[in-house]
Amino acid sequence: MKRILVFSICLFFISSVGCTDAKNLKGGQIEKKVEDLLSKMTLEEKIGQMNQISSSGNLEEMSRLIKKGEVGSILNEIDPVRVNALQRLAVEESRLGIPLLIARDVIHGFKTIFPIPLGQAASFNPQIVEDGARVAAKEASSVGIRWTFAPMIDISRDARWGRIAESCGEDTYLTSVMGAAMVKGFQGNSLNDPTSILACAKHFVGYGAVEGGRDYNSTHLTERQLRNDYLPPFEAATKQGAATFMSSFNDNDGVPSSANPFILKTVLRNEWGFDGFVVSDWASIKEMVNHGFCANDKESAMKAVNAGVDMEMVSYTYMNHLKELIKENKVTEKTIDDAVRNILRIKFRMGLFDNPYINGKAPSVMYSPENLAAAKAAATQSAILLKNDNTLPINSSVKTIAVVGPMADAPYEQMGTWAFDGEKAKTQTPLQSLKQLYGDKVQIIYEPALSYTRDKNTENISKAVNAAKKADIVLAFVGEEAILSGEAHCLADLHLLGAQSDLIKALAETGKPLVTVVMAGRPLTIGKEVEMSNSVLYSFHPGTMGGPAIADLLFGKSVPSGKTPVTFPKEVGQIPLYYNHNNTGRPATKKETLLDNIEVGAGQTSLGCTSFYMDAGFDPLFPFGYGLSYTTYKYNNLKLSATEFTPKGQIEVTFDLKNTGKYEGTEVAQLYVRDKVGSVTRPVKELKRFTRVTLKPGETKNISFMLPVEELAFWNIDMKKVVEPGDFTLWVGTNSQEGISADFKVVE
Ligand code: BGC
Repeated sequence: MKRILVFSICLFFISSVGCTDAKNLKGGQIEKKVEDLLSKMTLEEKIGQMNQISSSGNLEEMSRLIKKGEVGSILNEIDPVRVNALQRLAVEESRLGIPLLIARDVIHGFKTIFPIPLGQAASFNPQIVEDGARVAAKEASSVGIRWTFAPMIDISRDARWGRIAESCGEDTYLTSVMGAAMVKGFQGNSLNDPTSILACAKHFVGYGAVEGGRDYNSTHLTERQLRNDYLPPFEAATKQGAATFMSSFNDNDGVPSSANPFILKTVLRNEWGFDGFVVSDWASIKEMVNHGFCANDKESAMKAVNAGVDMEMVSYTYMNHLKELIKENKVTEKTIDDAVRNILRIKFRMGLFDNPYINGKAPSVMYSPENLAAAKAAATQSAILLKNDNTLPINSSVKTIAVVGPMADAPYEQMGTWAFDGEKAKTQTPLQSLKQLYGDKVQIIYEPALSYTRDKNTENISKAVNAAKKADIVLAFVGEEAILSGEAHCLADLHLLGAQSDLIKALAETGKPLVTVVMAGRPLTIGKEVEMSNSVLYSFHPGTMGGPAIADLLFGKSVPSGKTPVTFPKEVGQIPLYYNHNNTGRPATKKETLLDNIEVGAGQTSLGCTSFYMDAGFDPLFPFGYGLSYTTYKYNNLKLSATEFTPKGQIEVTFDLKNTGKYEGTEVAQLYVRDKVGSVTRPVKELKRFTRVTLKPGETKNISFMLPVEELAFWNIDMKKVVEPGDFTLWVGTNSQEGISADFKVVE
């Protein structure tokens, strides 16, 4: 029996490369360089550094601005020759030679596309996430991109919101760990490394809680919710050394983030000590006029800069109005100087002044075998087995396979949202991979039936049914096209679109074993289809290497290990639905009568007066942290190092994890805690640790988590972050609803 001490994914221990940079450089040489340069700059040049333009393709206009020192950063310029040419103008032809910062949204890969971030989060493997970000950084920096707008670490509890695809899901701890891992991957060992790209923690803050899941909407988060649930991933990103932050589009409690000094100054600068720079989201400063928060662009510029937004993305209110605002004493020169300091500090830290150009002659790093292998590993670990009646893995008695559905061979769609630079031609689909990797073992009949996921034309379903009848097993690839999730791509209904459900039904009616593979940008309400299928594998949008990853999973060369990073609702009307909610005064007993059993003319109080839906019941379709394997696991012998702890103590949690099945597999063991009574109501459970454990059939490992009691702290009734003494329950288990438990106390 092996003993494993888990500390690799413990936030408490995050040691930050970025922080080391910051420590060495703060107050040191770099600060001196910043001050020297700042002292030489005209006001126009300072404001120029605060201006980010989008590459317009109009070289003449861009050149004019760059030469005058009126551009600090360019976004969306990815042609290395042009990047070098524009940089040369900044370095050699502007008065002070300040290099440009070239930016691009490299969200889940540059050329080699990794699973969407929500998929990566399902791996519960920060190493996979870090590796993905590193690959992205290497590829992107090779064409001159030195700044990405990721990680997106908005807590997302509403799958109607298209941007849930870009997030790490609903949980604060998981998002904190994954976000920090992404920062580490993007920024590498040092910002100064030419393969490092700046991370940007976004969207600061609360954007995931937009009303009704409609993008750009208002949020109404209290300070306590912000501090307990929404801010921690950003604090973790700061600790990991994230060089930049982006202010979000939403207004929270009436204040747009781009003019919110509480989050940008009090929290970010004063409490967390962030010394990088803050960029607005795309035109979010100007849009404060639409919000009705500012009367005009000038007021927007004033409110944003005074709140602490250092650089403006594309909307020119700073360029057009800051000078005048200074003359009118509405903005001080010190405010401008501070913003420019923040920007220059990062440019110096990156070594951009010493190394502004890229080596156009270096061999290409795009789609290298290592990059593809990392993308395949990520896609493998991101897939979640939601149901299996032993139809999977496909066994050797299967000779003919029917491959159907609109996502079986949809290379563009499987890359998902924010894959601007990924190429369809380089993307390996499940159909291609099944043929390539398993075509010698099985005969494959392909009948897509629907040409895209919204296709309502049922004409060709009969062809798929005929294929199914000829086959030993049916693999149905359904889901969402890439365009159906991401920014501004929200949905009010989360059922499978088009005639996909009809297709599943028709296939199920053939009586052939049916495996449904879902490739989507969000959790969909697929209860019906799950019921009709023998097995369901949920792969989100798996990226470039989705094909081979899924093929190997289906054939058992790999064993599924992903877990839901977000609760899957049965019905959209249950949203928001997340595991770590507070308890009500009347939690459901689960014995209540549901819709179909309510008697006609039943009395008002006959249902029990508890918290549930008469039609959707009590539970989600799949809880947070859920995912099956081809093998099974048993948790046993949970022990805590004591029954009482002081707030400064450490809880050592040990338990045995046994593989009780027939396959070697990897289980994501999860540790949850409940603080039973607080000065404010507390969540019914909170994830505090997780780890991936690989076990051979029959093997048992003794797992140990170290949990500092400090990590049980929360923002209490006095808005102080404290550990309150009292009773706690702790669980270890396979998902947020199952597990073995032990109680402990925290004493003064
Ligand atoms: C998005 C950001 C993105 C920016 C730049 C905005 O519309 O909200 O997430 O980084 O555009 O492309």
